Amino acid sequence: MTEQFSKKNEAWSARFSEPVSDLVKRYTASVFFDYRLAHVDIQGSLAHAEMLAHQKIISSQDYADIQRGMQQILEEIKSGKFEWLLDLEDVHLNIEKRLTELVGDAGKRLHTGRSRNDQVATDIRLYLRAAIDDIQKLIRDLRLALVDLAEKHADTIMPGFTHMQVAQPVTFGHHMLAYVEMFGRDAERLTDCRKRINRLPLGAAALAGTTFPIDRERVAKTLGFDDVCHNSLDAVSDRDFAIEFCAAAALIMTHISRLSEELIIWMSPRVGFIDIADRFCTGSSIMPQKKNPDVPELARGKTGRVNGHLVGLLTLMKGQPLAYNKDNQEDKEPLFDTADTLIDTLRIFADMATGIHVKADAMRAAALQGYATATDLADYLVKKGLPFRDAHEAVAMAVRHCVERNCDLAELTTKELQAFSPLIAEDIHAVLTLEGSVAARNHIGGAAPAQVKAAIQRLRKLLA
Ligand code: ARG
Repeated sequence: MTEQFSKKNEAWSARFSEPVSDLVKRYTASVFFDYRLAHVDIQGSLAHAEMLAHQKIISSQDYADIQRGMQQILEEIKSGKFEWLLDLEDVHLNIEKRLTELVGDAGKRLHTGRSRNDQVATDIRLYLRAAIDDIQKLIRDLRLALVDLAEKHADTIMPGFTHMQVAQPVTFGHHMLAYVEMFGRDAERLTDCRKRINRLPLGAAALAGTTFPIDRERVAKTLGFDDVCHNSLDAVSDRDFAIEFCAAAALIMTHISRLSEELIIWMSPRVGFIDIADRFCTGSSIMPQKKNPDVPELARGKTGRVNGHLVGLLTLMKGQPLAYNKDNQEDKEPLFDTADTLIDTLRIFADMATGIHVKADAMRAAALQGYATATDLADYLVKKGLPFRDAHEAVAMAVRHCVERNCDLAELTTKELQAFSPLIAEDIHAVLTLEGSVAARNHIGGAAPAQVKAAIQRLRKLLA
């Protein structure tokens, strides 16, 4: 599409590569990117034409001609033969012009009672609705892959962290299920956002509605919308539904980014908790020993890009008076990029999750360092009647003693432990093991393997 700008206009100084009018044309055109709306644009046009014919605003012959023309256009697009023209500005005018070439006056009647303003708002909603349905499937795939991983490692001990310091033992399964929860809320958010997307702008025409006896409910039904937009000015101008979608997408990417950060840390040889299948990593062109977690790193990077699109759209909207303004043409590239980025990322992550190899020994060794069972000792003392603050103090002293001796709490004899509290008895040793610590957190949402397994069962039913 850009060759037409290569011709130099002799009337212009060599400093300029194109006359201003061509530059303006290119500047204002959107067909470079909104051609992606062609399918939903045609879907919307056919529903509109069907209604026009039903209402006797156009003849049934016109409708038949429009259907025939659109069929051919779809085929031309599919085979790559459709010629997109910059001069025709956008996807809507390109399709309408070609339709008129193919079927004559019927093509010119299609736009009766409609404007590009309600047309484009409808297209974006149709596009986003389909994108959300694809994304929902991918979120489900990812959640299922993480549930599988959690099931395999419901008993695999790893250190749980706060402030990046070893805090209490958990299991790798429990850790994975945390992400399954996050992605579950993400899916809920998309479901909710879809409800507000699924309303029909068509009929609002340019901004005030139309003088033709249209039937908006009929078009809504044909296109599978739950309702019509109830104010014409609002219908053509607001893009809050697109912003909501971007917000939901930004949160999904944020969760992906947190997971990525963990994968990167866990894969670092200094930590060595996991390995990621080779196909998600690359080597270094100079350092032969390297295996870099490129996919998680890129996903973390792309999160910035999606967050940026959210801010971009909010900023695009904030200053606009009612009703439609051309500013809104700028909504498409960020939206498309958000959906594309999200879809690719989710697909890759669902696959990558199945290629995560857990190094249970390294996780266990790390959990043994850092006094991960200190809270269990305190809880033990509380159960024996000591107020929690006093128990906390007694355990802090015990930990300090261990730090000085460079040993773990579990390595102290009962007698040594009793120096910190006479309430300590032989049964303390079961409490201080990693397995005992984890198993004791046996309530809904707790780290106990029994609870992790119950959560997995619940999730499997939910995702079935
Ligand atoms: N290409 C335009 C957009 O994306 C379509 C609507 C144009 N409407 C207008 N009155 N110029 O928003």
